Amino acid sequence: MKFFLDSAKTDEIEYALDMWNIDGVTTNPRHVNVSGKPFLKVISEIAGIFDGTDKPISVEVNPHLDNWREMVEEGRKLAAISPNFVIKLPATEAGFKAVYELAKDGVRSNLTLVFSPTQALQAMRMGAAFVSPFVGWKETNGEEITHFVDEVTAIRDNYGYTTQIIVAAVRNARQINNSAVSGADIVTAGLPVFQEGFTHPYTDVGLGKFQSFWDETPYE
Ligand code: E4P
Repeated sequence: MKFFLDSAKTDEIEYALDMWNIDGVTTNPRHVNVSGKPFLKVISEIAGIFDGTDKPISVEVNPHLDNWREMVEEGRKLAAISPNFVIKLPATEAGFKAVYELAKDGVRSNLTLVFSPTQALQAMRMGAAFVSPFVGWKETNGEEITHFVDEVTAIRDNYGYTTQIIVAAVRNARQINNSAVSGADIVTAGLPVFQEGFTHPYTDVGLGKFQSFWDETPYE
């Protein structure tokens, strides 16, 4: 199971790489906006952080594009900036076609905004390197998510697709855990989600107790 950081903040990315050896990064227009930097500047900075590694960085095309040719053109332009870049495309008819065309050139894509197993299947058929089922948004909408990820992984395994499944919009440790149990390849989440997921209150309580016993016990 790989962990990607869902962020375009370079300080967060450097921290997560240094402390947790994160396996890649996913960005989206919201993350880029929150970074406070222009799009090309910030994605180039992120590329610099991962220079010399094979860790993927998902960068999203202009979400206003609804023509696959324009998506392919922008995808090629972005892919030329860094070998780490994976082109994030929407799970629309034009997006699926753009995946297919980019794959012919060896440009990897990540289908985003995937909310049904059938969308994920179409992404796999068209040659997506990654597919991103969004669990957090579905759960907020009152929809079931465990079977969703189970079905996406079952489809991938039934037909031997090589597409890697990135469980996205992950909000808590339970969703990370469920994704791993379902057999997803990757979860992408924000820094606080991982930080909270790596802690447990009893770990802190237990550490305090052990510190007390340690202090009351002679060392030699
Ligand atoms: C994933 O690739 C997306 O960037 C992300 O998970 C979108 O959801 P969020 O910004 O609501 O977490």
